[in-house]
Amino acid sequence: MPETIDYDARIPNNVDLSANRRLQRALEGWQPKFMNWWGEMGPTLETQGVYLRTAVSVGREGWAHFDHVVPEEYRWGIFLAEREPDRRIAFGEHRGEPVWQQVPGEYRAELQRLIVIQGDTEPASVEQQRLLGLTAPSLYDLRNLFQVNVEEGRHLWAMVYLLHAYFGREGREEAEALLYRNSGSPDTPRILGAFNEETADWLAFYMFTYFTDRDGKYQLGTLKESAFDPLSRTCEFMLKEEAHHMFVGTTGVDRVVTRSAELIREHDTDDIASHGGIPLGIIQKYINFHYSVSLDLFGSETSTNAANYYTAGLKGRWLETRRKDDHKLTDDSGFLDRPGDDGTWVQEEVQKILLLNLDLRTEYIADCQSGVKRWNRILENNGIDFRFRLPHPGFNRDVGINAGHHVTPDGTIVDEPTWQRGRKHWLPTDEDLTFVRSLMIPVHERGKIAGWVAPPAGGINGKPFDYEYVYLT
Ligand SMILES: [Fe+2]
Ligand SMILES: [Fe+2]
Repeated sequence: MPETIDYDARIPNNVDLSANRRLQRALEGWQPKFMNWWGEMGPTLETQGVYLRTAVSVGREGWAHFDHVVPEEYRWGIFLAEREPDRRIAFGEHRGEPVWQQVPGEYRAELQRLIVIQGDTEPASVEQQRLLGLTAPSLYDLRNLFQVNVEEGRHLWAMVYLLHAYFGREGREEAEALLYRNSGSPDTPRILGAFNEETADWLAFYMFTYFTDRDGKYQLGTLKESAFDPLSRTCEFMLKEEAHHMFVGTTGVDRVVTRSAELIREHDTDDIASHGGIPLGIIQKYINFHYSVSLDLFGSETSTNAANYYTAGLKGRWLETRRKDDHKLTDDSGFLDRPGDDGTWVQEEVQKILLLNLDLRTEYIADCQSGVKRWNRILENNGIDFRFRLPHPGFNRDVGINAGHHVTPDGTIVDEPTWQRGRKHWLPTDEDLTFVRSLMIPVHERGKIAGWVAPPAGGINGKPFDYEYVYLT
């Protein structure tokens, strides 16, 4: 398995694609369909070149090369992390056995399903963000948007490779369907709810890359543990790319909060909307929305599917090998807080193996807290009393035990009228969204930035903020 990627091939890869002519031809047949999709559903803003990173090797050091690239000419390809010799299955009933290089017949349908669901999210986010380039607050931000978009396109390639290489005709059909479904389409929507929401403004983009890409990180982390080694290695490399997407989200929200704090101090008022800033209350509502729809992506708190995937060795836990238990979970139990019909929370003891989605979500929530902490530190450093917080996990949920209940951000179970009265205080209203959109005026001049967001602390790859990250027409 070469660490270095073959860029002379029509499809860049480190999987020795030329040795498998049938597979190579099949993927070369899919490539123009992908390009069509990118042209129709990808970024609408045309450029003459964007300062993008391209993976050159999958090794630990120096895997990326930076240069100006016309996005349509980006070299999407198939990159798997190096094979770990003698890797063993870390959990479930096959624990201790060698990992699989082929798909076992008995788990074929389940593995294909997991890959399709992951694959479906990748192009979906590109579709959700396709108009954002038109209102980018700076060339630096515009460059980051393109970077995230081309890499989500590559993640689609990663899943399509697995479908083509290991799942025969059905896999090829699923690969076609990944381009056929579209975010928000009334007839053929994307599979998961959060990926059918529009990313209409840049605050939503930062929130999406903070909260929703972070869900992706945790899902990829569980697939990285998979006994199906090609899936594990694919996800390991995707995680490397994913880190930058979350950086865009974390620092993006940092910069909005920083700018809002500046305006609050400068004008000595919280009401900074008339001064072109985003009020902290609106930022909190965006957090509430993006966090709660991202929690839905973890699925039901109790899940026999997740238990079966685990027992079979298809999908592990976050950092499975670092967990100190029997890695089978059949004898352990955990607790679940369920909303009761009388308006109180009822604690229930459940077999641990049924709580795997909740386990992953718990890891995710702890990670999300770290963002809230850093945003609050910015407020604190500016002498502002306001504090952001994550709403209760039962708030605004459509999936799992809280669906069908109304829970306030502080975790009180309320009736329908109370919810309806409160929601304008908790979730972005049409007015809030219209206001934020009104600030989204493009700034495409080198070294300049829109008034609602602070410049970043540094540039990309050691370049300054005022570098010409994007050549516009
Ligand atoms: Fe991705
Ligand atoms: Fe991502």
